[in-house]
Amino acid sequence: MLRNRRQFVQQAGALTASSFLLPWIQQPALDAITEKRRELDHLSAEAFAQKEDFWVLIQRAYQQSPHFINLENGYFSPQPVEVMEAQMNNIRMINEQPSFYMRKRQWDDKAGVKKLLAQQAGCSPEEIVITRNTTESLDTVIHGLDFEPGSEAIMCDQDYGSMLEAFDQQARRRGLVNKFIELPLHPVSDSEIVERYEKAITDKTKVMLVTHLINITGQVLPVRKICDMAHRHDVQVIVDGAHSFAQLDFKIPDLGADYFGASLHKWLCCPLGAGILYVRKDRIANVWPLFGDAGHAADDIRKLEHIGTHPVSTNLTIAAALRFHQMIGDRRKQERLRYLKRYWTEQVKEVPGITLNTPWEMERSSAIANVAVDGYTPQELWDKLYDDYRIWTVAINRKAVKGIRVTPHLYTPIEHLDQFVAALKELAS
Ligand SMILES: Cc1ncc(COP(=O)(O)O)c(C=O)c1O
Repeated sequence: MLRNRRQFVQQAGALTASSFLLPWIQQPALDAITEKRRELDHLSAEAFAQKEDFWVLIQRAYQQSPHFINLENGYFSPQPVEVMEAQMNNIRMINEQPSFYMRKRQWDDKAGVKKLLAQQAGCSPEEIVITRNTTESLDTVIHGLDFEPGSEAIMCDQDYGSMLEAFDQQARRRGLVNKFIELPLHPVSDSEIVERYEKAITDKTKVMLVTHLINITGQVLPVRKICDMAHRHDVQVIVDGAHSFAQLDFKIPDLGADYFGASLHKWLCCPLGAGILYVRKDRIANVWPLFGDAGHAADDIRKLEHIGTHPVSTNLTIAAALRFHQMIGDRRKQERLRYLKRYWTEQVKEVPGITLNTPWEMERSSAIANVAVDGYTPQELWDKLYDDYRIWTVAINRKAVKGIRVTPHLYTPIEHLDQFVAALKELAS
């Protein structure tokens, strides 16, 4: 009897030890990628971006539908096959030891993943929370700050709806005054943007929302300069990094933001429902948790982790996604995505009837671009590309910008972009 119990305990221990760190990713595929990368390591990231014999290996690491060309990776990213398998294994592992895992193991495993994520983000694990998405991350901050009636917040006409709606709710609930600035589609300099935010500041301004990479146009904003300017006026900055995290090469503290949120199912290629919230250490005490928490001090970020039972398998799988991402490298990934965007936009930018709504300078965008064709509404262009060419994009019909959003990914073959360019030219003629 005693022997049986000991055997059981030993087995349970063996099954659960640091499960997320096990090498779920299929080694042969990853070895080939790593070997090729080492061979090309001497190249600059810009030159590396054009080495198709490396990127073809990355394309094979993802599973794509053969039925259409997917140029809509702005919504979320598919996972590399190996990351998806890690997720399946994590689901299976938790399902095998249900409440035993949740009561005994999840905390250590999640702390381990958080440490890895903090390394990628360049900050302390004590400044981040794993959330479900950008909406949860940033709405936690917007709803968690205290605002006096009449105090002001600044945002722009191209920020994301969920955050604007959260600010609108604060306006209706607490009398916050929301002020909007308009962003230029083609800024001539960083100062032009910084000045627009600065002009909106008054002595009542408490906070600003700034989107690092605008989702509808792909424009990258000079966030560091905006934050430095805002801090000179004693204004705090909430940065929406939904699209910048793991797409652009930066560490969160480089931005100088007070609060930063991103979705890990976008450019880190995690399973759906993974996000990150960063709160600068000295700002943690400012934020009330959305879900009550009595277990942690006001300046302990873990007070924001209390969300009830959730799919821990998703949190654990972040480790596999980080490993895949880091195998490529931040800078190489950024430059490849920029190269793909430049590859197709270069071929259409002078074509009569075609308008690009994304800044041209390399540092002002990345994978995402927005394009319009004369004679087509965004919806018509979106439909036409899918119905006649089986090319999937998305229509953007906002006051500030009208066109379709085109977002290739690491797995996009050059031939797909050639087909897209041919389709655009045909429609424009
Ligand atoms: C700029 C921006 N912010 C926030 C979000 C919200 O992301 P999620 O739905 O993952 O919360 C998105 C989604 O596309 C986005 O583009």
